[in-house]
Formats: sequence, structure tokens, C-alpha cells
Amino acid sequence: MPARIIDGRALAAALNAETAHRIEAGRFHPGLAVVLVGDDPASAIYVRNKDRAARAVGIEARTIRLPADTSETALLARIAALNADPVIDGILVQLPLPPQIRPQAVIEAIDPAKDVDGLSPVNAGRLFMGRPFLVPCTPLGVMKLLAAADVSVSGARALVIGRSNLVGRPLAALLTAADATVTVAHSRTRDLAAECRRAEILVAAAGRPELVRGDWIASEAVVIDVGIHRQKGGGLVGDVAFAEALPVAASITPVPGGVGPMTTACLLENTLTAALARRGHPGKG
Ligand code: GUN
Repeated sequence: MPARIIDGRALAAALNAETAHRIEAGRFHPGLAVVLVGDDPASAIYVRNKDRAARAVGIEARTIRLPADTSETALLARIAALNADPVIDGILVQLPLPPQIRPQAVIEAIDPAKDVDGLSPVNAGRLFMGRPFLVPCTPLGVMKLLAAADVSVSGARALVIGRSNLVGRPLAALLTAADATVTVAHSRTRDLAAECRRAEILVAAAGRPELVRGDWIASEAVVIDVGIHRQKGGGLVGDVAFAEALPVAASITPVPGGVGPMTTACLLENTLTAALARRGHPGKG
């Protein structure tokens, strides 16, 4: 029996509807600033999609486009102004940044209360200490996909391929907090295929097209594909060889239409979380 397809688009639509409803009930419009430096075409598309999706749920989105030769000092000054701006609840600086700007310096300059990407040291530290506030959007989306697919994470053997601050590291923390037994694999892992074959939950976030082959996947494994790569012919593929994995896995996320829409939906939810916390709403914070 082929794998069940985990529909990220449908789940993202449901989460966006919930976020829109909560914003309407709150009677205020959270403010989100998305900063794009330079003209990387993929980043431009991501930023436009985030802006559109934010407006659709009632978030006041503002995209700030800066030239590719913007200095680090100038970008830090923009961030300081956004930190101080009372109508801005969330700040996202699209990565990657041009080479003259150190991403860590920028991430560390964002007020943790407005850090809707969850990448600042304060939010990363809180996640690792088991007291999460704003959690990185892609790993949060992966956890919601697992929950929606009724995957029992507790006690499961989970493999995360990739150790980036954006995905692999925070996802390993979330899976650990959900009581999975977590292995983090990376470019120096010996015999990645063998690690994959042991995994009951396999998350591929390596950034390498079709790295994970069908015969690396255990039957009955749940496969979450975080990768997205444009092929020469124009099609999109993930980090998993989808056609090979489909007959083997129990369930799998497609590319596109799996993790991607959930990343955006979680950004919008994080923006609302930040807005509520800044208004003294009890709960997270
Ligand atoms: N570039 C690719 N993914 C992301 C993300 O989740 N956040 C930011 N800021 N940049 C990205």
C-alpha cells in the first residue's frame, strides 16, 4: 500500500483560519515587518508569499526591501527602529543575507519579544531549557504535521538529518521534549543509510536534493521532507526521492505542499503569539 500523503496545504489552511479567527476576536491587527536585503529571486518569492499570507489573516504586514549593498550598520539601525516601533509585533529578516552582513549579528539585534523566527539566543535558549516562547517556524510546523497525522512521537526513534539553527537543532529539541529518542545526522555521519533504516520518524532537512533514497526507509516510517529544490527542468524536489519513498513509507509529506505551507502558517501564529504577549496576554511569555 502506498504511503499516506500528509497534506500540509490543508493543515496550513486550517491553522490560518484559526489565526484569523483569533485576530478577529482580539479586535486588533498584529504588525509584522519582513526585511529583505538584496534581490535573491527565491527569497523575493518567499517574502511576497509571507506578506500576502499575513494580510489574508488580518496581520498588518510591511515588507522592507533594502539594496544588496546595504551595510551591516545600516541594517542594524533599521532593526533598532523596528524594535522601538510600537505598531510592530514581529520582525523577520529573510535569510540568507549578503556576504558583508553577519547573520548572527542581525539575529541577535532583534528584540526577543518580536523575534517571530525564534532564532535569537533568548528564544533558542528557552526552547532548549524546555520553556519555549517563540519557536522557529519550520520545526514548529513539522511538529504540527506529526500531530495532525496522529504519529505517536513519545518513545519513537526519530532521525533528524541536518543540524542548522533554522531547522535541525530546534527540531531535535522539540522532538526530545515530546519524548522521542532523537538522533541528529549531518554531513559527517557515517553510514547515513543505516541511520535512516532505524528511524520510525525520519525528518530530512539536509538541503540536498533527493539525498534520502527509497531503500533507506523502513517500512512503516513516517517521512517528513523539509527540503525544496528547483530542478533544471523547472520542477521541485525535496531531500527525499519521493517516487522511491512512496511505496515504502507509512506516510510522507509531498514537496511542494507539505512542510512549506506550514512554515508560513506558523510564522503567522507566532506573530499573533508575540502580539498577545506584548499586550500582556497571559500564557506564553
Ligand atoms: N530563509 C529560509 N527559511 C527561512 C526562515 O524560516 N526564516 C528566515 N528568516 N529566513 C529563511
